[in-house]
Amino acid sequence: MASTPLKNKLALGQRLRRNRKAEWTRRLVREHELAVNDLIWPIFLIEGEGLREPVDSMPGVERLSIDEAVRAAENAAGLGIPALALFPNIQASLRDAEASEALNEANLVCRAIKAIKRAAPHLGIVTDVALDPYTSHGHDGLLEGEEIVNDATVAVLVTQALNQARAGADIIAPSDMMDGRVAAIRAGLDAEGFESVAIMSYAAKYASAFYGPFRDAIGTRAVLIGDKRTYQMDPANTDEALREVALDLEEGADMIIVKPGLPYLDVIFRVKEAFGVPTFAYQVSGEYAMLMAAIKNGWLDADRAVLESLVAFKRAGANGVLTYFAPLAAKKLKERK
Ligand code: PBG
Repeated sequence: MASTPLKNKLALGQRLRRNRKAEWTRRLVREHELAVNDLIWPIFLIEGEGLREPVDSMPGVERLSIDEAVRAAENAAGLGIPALALFPNIQASLRDAEASEALNEANLVCRAIKAIKRAAPHLGIVTDVALDPYTSHGHDGLLEGEEIVNDATVAVLVTQALNQARAGADIIAPSDMMDGRVAAIRAGLDAEGFESVAIMSYAAKYASAFYGPFRDAIGTRAVLIGDKRTYQMDPANTDEALREVALDLEEGADMIIVKPGLPYLDVIFRVKEAFGVPTFAYQVSGEYAMLMAAIKNGWLDADRAVLESLVAFKRAGANGVLTYFAPLAAKKLKERK
């Protein structure tokens, strides 16, 4: 019984292996290709000079003082990486309940934007809008009693976004998951003449365990009170992700992020199918840490595992990926040519 279908197929001449027999034919029939143009590199900032501080839970990733970040930016531009995403780790003494430092026009992020723009004017700069690096409790919004209050937070986020735009940010990326923030930020930007500053919204951002190492990197893991499940999405939902994306697009988002990455490829696929808008995956810190842990143990081959994980995003429909592997991937892609 089992041999009959195989025989029939071979009789029909169907042999899919013909297209795989050599590198040139694999290249010819390849459906998706990762390019350096697809990469956004997230970097971490610290105060100081000449400082590179390793992040223990993200081997190979360092927090950089602004001068070092400028060198990293020049390096990224040289590799052809289109854009950087900036995340600050500010001194504990500057964190408070109101996230005041988020509103300081000369805060670490704003100074970094200016310095990087000066050194690498053609590199895109994406800045995170959320309060977690600035709050004493580690939440993305303002805490009143036990609640992260939505509308009061949105008002602060608009000012934070405006400061970033004034400093020269090209893309504002709200990652806070407050309702209505995209519309408010768009209106705020337009009212000040920043019509050409784009919004890349973390539309479908899940309350994920995979953000742990990032919280080490920006110094919020130890201070975070409770969790973010009243504003970030339940990992069990996808229809809701489509509602989030629809709303953010209606409110004026130019591009959409789905986050985390690999465990949520189905969400990327559905978002791209449903809306056909520029869609980005965030391969988050925990995904980076998992891969690096196995790579450092010699259990996975770095180059192959990293490039395979990245092309998976393209296959799912993403236009690009925010990834800590951006420089490594860019180098490998260059060598391949
Ligand atoms: C917070 C923010 C987070 C990440 C990006 N922006 C973490 C969180 O929501 O706690 C995670 C990125 C990563 O894990 O690499 N606004």
